[in-house]
Amino acid sequence: MEHELAQELNGILRGTTPEALLSAMGKRLYFPKGIIAQGAEAKQFSTLANGTLGIAVKQKMPLILSALGEQLPGMKAGEIVSYAPTAGIPGLREIWAAEIRRKNPALGNSSFSLPVVTTGLTAGVSLLADLFLDEGQTLMAADPSWDNYVLVAEARRNARFQPVTMFNEGGLDLPALEAALSAEAEKTGFVRLLLNFPHNPTGYSPTVGEARGICALIRNIAEKGAKVLVICDDAYFGLRFEEDLEPQSLFAYLAGLHENILAAKIDGSTKEDFAWGLRCGFVTFGGKNLSDAHYDALIKKTMAVIRSTISCSSTVVQNLLQKMYSSGGDTLQSEKKAYRDLIERRYKKVRALVDAKKNHPLLRPMPFNSGYFMSFRCANRNAESLRQKLLRDYGVGTIAIDERTLRVAFSGLDDECIDEVYALIYRAAEELG
Ligand SMILES: Cc1ncc(COP(=O)(O)O)c(C=O)c1O
Repeated sequence: MEHELAQELNGILRGTTPEALLSAMGKRLYFPKGIIAQGAEAKQFSTLANGTLGIAVKQKMPLILSALGEQLPGMKAGEIVSYAPTAGIPGLREIWAAEIRRKNPALGNSSFSLPVVTTGLTAGVSLLADLFLDEGQTLMAADPSWDNYVLVAEARRNARFQPVTMFNEGGLDLPALEAALSAEAEKTGFVRLLLNFPHNPTGYSPTVGEARGICALIRNIAEKGAKVLVICDDAYFGLRFEEDLEPQSLFAYLAGLHENILAAKIDGSTKEDFAWGLRCGFVTFGGKNLSDAHYDALIKKTMAVIRSTISCSSTVVQNLLQKMYSSGGDTLQSEKKAYRDLIERRYKKVRALVDAKKNHPLLRPMPFNSGYFMSFRCANRNAESLRQKLLRDYGVGTIAIDERTLRVAFSGLDDECIDEVYALIYRAAEELG
């Protein structure tokens, strides 16, 4: 039996695509009117004293050990050690919502929810799977994909992860994608698709034409009646190194595309702001004809996952980032550009090296044009054996994604060693025999 608050949220969502897509756990989840909600209310109205939250205060300020506070001289105790709201600090969420609009003008009049703060993008993937992926259901994503997707879908949710052929030698294989999505839609009436561009591990982003093609085929499937969840993992947003690439997140086009589509965007500071270990991500929903009440219900369900797993994300991290976004100004933008240019320079170098060996019999680069990575498909060589040889004989670390795919993070290679590293990769493949 569902809790009455879950029933209330499900009632608000009744008849919508999000409701049709919810997992059993997603249906059960609710945000309790307990400690957190009562504490938030008290924060607003307790003029005399606040005896709600499990923290210790002196003269209305949270206690803080000076050895800790001294590390962050520009911040008040409350900005460091207090609990953050379950969905994140409101100012930071507003800043991120404005950023999503600024970076994605194609959103036009499409509505989307206020972003919810997650502890890194991984938590976003995981909580969306909790909400929308059940045992026996299928999550589709590119073959190959970031290895965490299969872990979340299969080990955590006991669902099926289906790698879909998405790339050919030159770019996206749209017919293969369409065939896979159509087959799933016809079989189950549902499609749950995770799109990640710039892509890990290939480093591919769609051209403007391909982006249009992906949206057209998703729309086509939705028009035929399937309920479609598209998760856009935009971890590497903005790192595009060729001219004709789609500059916006596909979320911008999907959010208002069709009533049968629920788009969910996962993004954050991790890669966009070179803050990998700070662990700040966001989850944002968009769907045609979804109202503020629907978004509010989806946010409450999201908060329910957060409350029942990690309770909330780090306060100090959110405040640090909020301060950075609000006061970073031109320096922030020019440093971000300089870092991005550095990665682009590495890309160009790798591009030239790999293009010069285009017809190598053993190592074929998968299409790449963006992000941190490029991958080789290995012909007649096992990627794990190649990885081992590179590491043991030449001291070069790479990742064997699967038996035939070797990933190289050129973002992490200092410019001066790129020539040598790539020469060794080809040499090691030739020597493997
Ligand atoms: C495609 C993709 N999504 C998400 C993440 C994880 O981001 P976070 O470190 O914020 O959890 C990564 C990190 O490698 C990634 O490659």
